[in-house]
Formats: sequence, C-alpha cells, structure tokens
Amino acid sequence: MKEREQRANEDSKIVALGVTSSISIYKACEILRGFQKKGCRVRVVMTRNAARLVSPLLFSALSGGAVIVDLFDERVSRRVGHVTLAREISLLCVAPATANVIAKFASGVADDFLSTLYLATRCPVLVAPAMNEAMFLHPRTQENLRKLRGAGVEFVEPEKGTLACHDEGWGRLASPERIVEEGLRILSRTESLKGVGVLVTAGPTREYLDPVRFLSNASSGKMGYEIAREAASRGAEVTLISGPVELVPPAGVRVIKVRTAADMEREVLEAYPGSGLVIMAAAVSDFRFTRTARQKIGKRGLAGKVDLVETRDILKTLGAKKKGKVLVGFAAETEKTIPHAVRKMKEKKLDLIVANNVGEEGIGFESDDNKVFIIRPDGKVLPTDKMSKREISRVVLDQIEAVIEEKRK
Ligand SMILES: Cc1cc2nc3c(=O)[nH]c(=O)nc-3n(C[C@H](O)[C@H](O)[C@H](O)COP(=O)(O)O)c2cc1C
Repeated sequence: MKEREQRANEDSKIVALGVTSSISIYKACEILRGFQKKGCRVRVVMTRNAARLVSPLLFSALSGGAVIVDLFDERVSRRVGHVTLAREISLLCVAPATANVIAKFASGVADDFLSTLYLATRCPVLVAPAMNEAMFLHPRTQENLRKLRGAGVEFVEPEKGTLACHDEGWGRLASPERIVEEGLRILSRTESLKGVGVLVTAGPTREYLDPVRFLSNASSGKMGYEIAREAASRGAEVTLISGPVELVPPAGVRVIKVRTAADMEREVLEAYPGSGLVIMAAAVSDFRFTRTARQKIGKRGLAGKVDLVETRDILKTLGAKKKGKVLVGFAAETEKTIPHAVRKMKEKKLDLIVANNVGEEGIGFESDDNKVFIIRPDGKVLPTDKMSKREISRVVLDQIEAVIEEKRK
C-alpha cells in the first residue's frame, strides 16, 4: 500500500507556486490546497517581500516541504536549485503576482529565486496578477502584460470589485478556484499529445540556380517553430524539418535542416511513416530552375536564359497515401484567402487548413504576429484575432486535437 502511495506521489505533477508580496497573499494558501487536492505536488517559492508579509512557515506547513525564498540559501544552491526545480516542474503558477514581478519577468531581470526560475524553466507559466486598479491599468504594466502574453505566458485575468485597499476597480486577484482550474487545464494539455509522432515542416526552401544564387521566399519559419514547440510541450515526439532560417530550435524537438524543396520532400517522406500527425507549415517553393549550374554563372550568361519548372507538391503526395494520419496544411495567400485555402484542402485531402493573408501589414511572413483562419473539412471557419505566433500555435493545436478526437469516434 505504502509502495503504491509512494509511486502515485512520484507520478504526480509538480507545480511551483510563486508567491509575491500582494495584499491578496492569503489566498495563495487556498491555491496551494486546491492543487494538492487534485493530486499535484506543490513547491512554494516566495519573494523576499512576500516572506515579510507572511511567514514562509505557513506555506511550508501546508505544502509539507521547504519554502524557497533565497537564491543563495546554501541548502538550495548546493544543487543549483533554480535549474533543478526548473526541470522538475510541470507548471510555474505565480499567484498572486505583483506589478513588480510581472515587470521583472517581462524584462528578463533575474535577481531572486522566482525570477531566475522563470528564465530557467521551459514549462508553461501561468500568472494571476493582483494589484490596485491604477497599477494594473498603468501603461507600463499593460505593456509588460502584452510582452509576456507574446512570450507565451498565460494569465488568469484579475477581476473587478472591491480591492484590499478599499478602492473599487480592476485588479482583484481571480478566485483561487479559477486559478487552480486554469492551472489544471494547462497541466492536462501537457500530455494531450503524449506518444504521438508529429512531423512539422517550417521555413522557406531555396532553389539554386548556381552555387550563389537561389529562388526563395520571405518565410521566417517562426510559425512552424512555434507549432513544433507547442506540440512538444503537449508530450508529442516532434520531428521538425526546417528550411534555412535564423531561429533557435525548440527544446526537445528533433530538427532536420534542409535547403531545397527536393531535400524537404525526401526528409518528409522518410519521417512520414512514423508520424500520426503532419503539420506542413513550410513555404516550399513552387518552382525550381530547370538546371543548377555547378559553377557560378557569369553575368552575361543569365538574362533571358533562365527557365523554371514546378516542384513536386509534397502535401498532395502525402494526402494521396495518408491512411489514418491527420494532415494539416498552411496556406499563405494574398487574395481570396478562404476560397483558395478551401480548394487546397480538398485537393490535398487535408483534415484542416490554416490560412492567412500574407499581404496584410504586421502579420504573416517575417512578423512575430499572425492572424489566421482555421478551416475545417466541413467548411467551418474559425477566424483568430491578431496574436503572437506562439498564441496562434496553441489555438491551432487545440483545433487539431479536436479533429483527432472526432476521427477517433
Ligand atoms: C501591505 C502591502 C500590500 C501590497 N499589495 C500589493 C498588490 O496587491 N499588488 C502589487 O503589485 N503590489 C503590492 N504591494 C507592493 C509590493 O509589495 C512591492 O511593489 C514590492 O516591491 C513587490 O515585491 P515582490 O514582487 O518581490 O514581492 C503591496 C505592498 C504592501 C506593503
């Protein structure tokens, strides 16, 4: 019995609960208990100021473990505590979060245990702000919230009501139930694609005329990299086949670098049998030169002598032999976005297509933001707001999971 309990304990997820010095700090006790009741192990990390408001002993007694306050505490730093904890946890939940900690996270300041942990961890981060209305609505705070949202941090928005300072307005910490519920939703997501082989393509291809000249496009690869990152964070085994881009590969993802459409096709076909879900976000060149010269072609040899042929349509090839796989495509259009995307989806036998108008200012190629239409085979169109590509990737994967679920039925 004891052994079983111990094993259950080892299997349970670890939540780091970051507690900062807001007047609503007392509600953190209920948040801690809420996570515990749902079977999570909770490690409490307090800021120094929080520890001045409430004794860490309270959280230590409730959590059944030592509370971490000091980055340089010998007992913690002996094991390089922030790095160890950063790897162990499945969720970092900061509740309540002061304006100060939000500003530190947004600018990458790492001057205590909690802010250092934020930088060191790759797990999902959930922040529940709590402050008076003037602080919450201050342009600096709003800018910091926007920055963090863009970096993938999720929020439980504060509520409107009577604040601890007796003012009325926005800024009251969301209820502990809502915070725990949101935390659990994120935790369940971290396993939703567990064991699924996911193949993602990203970036442009280069079709060479000679060793120095090529035909390409403006795809930055950011959308595909975010999709790969999000799939990995949901437990998938991700292979990312990437054209030439200047991006840091997401952690835990197998990356295969390619240059031409033919390279991309070869690698995709090789990885295809082991993948249950394929998401083609790469902007594969539709054309290549009929011939690639081995040596640089002289200036005079070029004009009027360059011929193009179509490259093979990788998605169409995959669609023709997809069997039980789920196939998702991206469509970058400059006009008639939805009709063009619907046609592509049908032609290539896709389960979902994500379309965007790359001609629009501030979204699409090269940008950090995007605004897309997610189109399902039944013709339903889900338009998104303009959001960071990281947020878009979350919405897209939620929709893909819904399709997988429907196919299972
Ligand atoms: C009694 C008291 C209550 C406070 N409540 C809040 C609050 O709800 N939200 C907030 O952002 N700051 C609040 N502050 C100010 C923060 O404690 C202050 O900005 C501090 O530097 C934040 O430190 P920390 O983020 O490291 O915990 C409060 C301060 C005091 C003394």
